[in-house]
Amino acid sequence: MADFVNVVINGQAVEVPPGTSVAAAIIMIGAPSRHSISGQPRGPLCGMGVCYECCATVNGRPHVKGCQTVCEEGMEISTDV
Ligand code: FES
Repeated sequence: MADFVNVVINGQAVEVPPGTSVAAAIIMIGAPSRHSISGQPRGPLCGMGVCYECCATVNGRPHVKGCQTVCEEGMEISTDV
């Protein structure tokens, strides 16, 4: 098993430990997952797939629950910032 998994978040190359969730990877770079309709930054709340606060675009697929998705090599992640 590799020591790190390489992903790209909002155009920034990031190395994360294997098994890291997309939500955790986004937190590692200090970005919110999304913004509320009133413009407030939002991030993971429940960590178990219920609240939808961690949704991001993963490999072009929007509204992916980051807390339920494990980072894979070469994954492209974008938040709505
Ligand atoms: S943190 Fe609540 S659905 Fe992901």
